[in-house]
Amino acid sequence: MKRIAVLTSGGDAPLMNAALRAVVRKAIYNGLDVYGIMYGYAGLLKKEIKKMELGSVGDIIHRGGTKLYTARCQEFLQPEVRAKAVEILKEYAIEGLIVIGGDGSYRGALELTKLGMPGIGIPATIDNDVLGTEFSIGFDTALNTVIEAIDKIRDTAMSHERTYVIEVMGRDCGDIAQWAGVAGGAETVLVPEKPIDINATIERIKRGHERGKKHSIIIVSEGVGNAVEIGRQIKDICGYDTRVTILGHVQRGGSPTATDRVLASRFGSRAVELLCEGKFGHTVGIIKNEIVDMEFENALKMKKLSNSSLAELCDELAI
Ligand code: F6P
Repeated sequence: MKRIAVLTSGGDAPLMNAALRAVVRKAIYNGLDVYGIMYGYAGLLKKEIKKMELGSVGDIIHRGGTKLYTARCQEFLQPEVRAKAVEILKEYAIEGLIVIGGDGSYRGALELTKLGMPGIGIPATIDNDVLGTEFSIGFDTALNTVIEAIDKIRDTAMSHERTYVIEVMGRDCGDIAQWAGVAGGAETVLVPEKPIDINATIERIKRGHERGKKHSIIIVSEGVGNAVEIGRQIKDICGYDTRVTILGHVQRGGSPTATDRVLASRFGSRAVELLCEGKFGHTVGIIKNEIVDMEFENALKMKKLSNSSLAELCDELAI
């Protein structure tokens, strides 16, 4: 293998730059040429491809966003579009492609691998919903952003004796909510993996009030439904002064945490090694604190590791 390319795809995660840096530096360290593809698969189709040098990834390890820009590319679901993408990569003499993104991006890389363009996936999304790994890069940083917000909201919730419903991102995965619930000391966490029981939530808030705790924090994962509606129900049924805060895209930005930077560096380095070893069509991941790799097909067949023990812990500690 002499020449590889790298792209970032799907929703950005604050760690894409750190992973990109690791890929570029490790590739150059191993004597490979490395090309960066702008705007994910969409940019590949438009031939937005440029050679990366050591300096191309200088001063980005601490920056959120992605220097290569990112995009979601619906067109890539069409087989003829993927065939064109392989032709373009071959035109540039590219022999392997590293894709930094989530499950959708992996599916694209798997299809390219089947067409003879070896792909490797690095899991990057704040949602932590990528299969084949316990943690995706970006999750820890987003979680810390959420905790900072919860801590601030807690101050005002306490002063005004209010109930706060805080909506966090995660799409269909409740990991951000569940982890934030434990780390932020929430009364209740509502996640899409579990049917919501608004009565149980209300009972819990009331119990708190009865023993003198007049403020509460309820974390709602966006996949559960409408946080504003949940806030309205709590207010209507309990009569407590209730506010709703939707954290939104603030969760996708910011300087990455040290944990995330190290993970991104380990993933990026291993991804290049896999291409050099001729292990194509693999994802990298972390399981039980070991860097692992597995075939895309096996990763995509895996079940998401459950957080039920965290759910129990949150309930136990917020009695
Ligand atoms: O997948 C990351 C994510 O931030 C989800 O948590 C959220 O549902 C979605 O992307 C938002 O997408 P967009 O930035 O396209 O609105």
